[in-house]
Amino acid sequence: MLSEKLLTALSDQVNAEYYSAYLYLAMSAAATKLGLKGTAHWIFTQSQEEMAHGTNIYNYIIERGETPAFKPIEKPVTEYTDVHHIFNEILKHEQSVTKSINNLATIAMTDADHAAYQFLMWYVNEQVEEESGVSDILDKLKLVGSGDSLLALDNELGARVFVNPFPAN
Ligand code: FEO
Repeated sequence: MLSEKLLTALSDQVNAEYYSAYLYLAMSAAATKLGLKGTAHWIFTQSQEEMAHGTNIYNYIIERGETPAFKPIEKPVTEYTDVHHIFNEILKHEQSVTKSINNLATIAMTDADHAAYQFLMWYVNEQVEEESGVSDILDKLKLVGSGDSLLALDNELGARVFVNPFPAN
């Protein structure tokens, strides 16, 4: 049985992951508008991953015999000035997700809920990868200007392939 506090926090995390998916759809649309199809594809793939993250937590709540709370999903920001703006916002967003995942792990630890803690460790590690991946893209963006080198980076981002981290879900 999950504690009420942990159930609430897990339910909020399902919402946060689906919000992330929605936010990344908005950013993908913005990148398309900027003429950066590869970037739009990379962010769209990120959105698919977020859906998978949220669904996996939903399934975990169900597996533990509980029912998640369902709250409205916030409206994402849709206007972005350029690709730097988009990726800076992605990094900020992922840093806030890291905080909420760490908070979840702390609740599971305080509850001595070893199963939930173990479950959440995947997300803790995933956040390290996500922040690092986005920081790498921001570093590259600082090096490229707005001409051919930006288009080359856009092509590179367009090669991302969605791999469902939880194929059994
Ligand atoms: Fe589900 Fe981008 O963390």
